[in-house]
Amino acid sequence: MDTKVLIPTEENIAYAAELLNKGEVVGMPTETVYGLAANAYDENAVEKIFKAKGRPQDNPLIVHINSMDMLNDLVENIPQIAYKLASKFWPGPLTMIFHKSDKIPLAVTAGLSTIAIRYPSNKVACMLIEESGLPLAAPSANLSGRPSPTTANHVFNDLNTKIPAILDGGPCEFGLESTVVLLAEDKVILLRPGAITLEMLKEVVPNVEVNKGVLHQVADDEEVASPGMKHTHYSPRANVCIIDSNFEQFKKYIEAHKDENLGAMVFDGEELELDVPCVTFGDEDDSIIQAKLLFNSLRAIDNLGVDRIYARMPDVNGIGLAIYNRLIRAAGFEVIQL
Ligand code: TXA
Ligand code: MG
Repeated sequence: MDTKVLIPTEENIAYAAELLNKGEVVGMPTETVYGLAANAYDENAVEKIFKAKGRPQDNPLIVHINSMDMLNDLVENIPQIAYKLASKFWPGPLTMIFHKSDKIPLAVTAGLSTIAIRYPSNKVACMLIEESGLPLAAPSANLSGRPSPTTANHVFNDLNTKIPAILDGGPCEFGLESTVVLLAEDKVILLRPGAITLEMLKEVVPNVEVNKGVLHQVADDEEVASPGMKHTHYSPRANVCIIDSNFEQFKKYIEAHKDENLGAMVFDGEELELDVPCVTFGDEDDSIIQAKLLFNSLRAIDNLGVDRIYARMPDVNGIGLAIYNRLIRAAGFEVIQL
């Protein structure tokens, strides 16, 4: 089966919705990254997601909705704080974790009693949910371990022949996966930073906590709040290392290590001062652009033919925290401070 890449006309969205109702999986755009969607009520369809991605069975999926009514069917005991967060950030790149209802098969939540829910703002995603009439379970549409896809072409490169269709909604608006928060009894815990930044969350929940796994490696035998924290992520084929320094120090370091068959991941313009293969990920002072370009740049590293990549350290404020959270995983937590 060759994978069809479809422009999201009404007709093609109706076709994709039909595939979903038949228990098939479909690649869909969202404002964060592309997702691989299936009917969240259909255990067999959900299993096809795990199979196509090669996703570890213990890693739960996010369910996508397009109304608060849909939420009521999927979760139990919605805490007040969820309404506050929803009214501020939904539709948009925020995922909240609730207690799950019995209607959702355990395959979606990898056996957990909690469920991650997100109401995307992307028009095509919302139309697909509307047209299918289904809540859609959808992880990022990459092969497990690879950088998340921010274009339909990335999805095609990873999943061609494995899925019937991809709706091509163009490049994703944000380029990094949604912010994930856990709603515990009386607190909100940030599990994965995203375009809804820590600073933005604090405006609604001043005492929001940041889980240790956001910036630190968790040991294999340590309990994690989110199973995704344990798995290898976002990796190009070359080995990545972050250099925490200014550009002058970075440049010297690269020059001193030139015999390593290395490349560099740098901010715009810096490539002109280095004579090793480079990928760029945006202007040094523009975190929004860096977020948008990060996964594309990590994928582009595969075309450089190098074994090792030294990456510049992003600013970690605002959406920068999300950029660093992804980059540090791509680097297997290897950071050199100069
Ligand atoms: O922006 C996004 O969130 C994209 C688009 C497609 O919506 N989706 C996405 O899904 O990034 P995925 O599967 O690549 O990442 C979901 C993350 C994983 O780290 C998973 O472990 C965590 O959310 N997660 C899902 N359900 C959970 C739960 N019940 N408890 C804790 N963590 C959960
Ligand atoms: Mg993913």
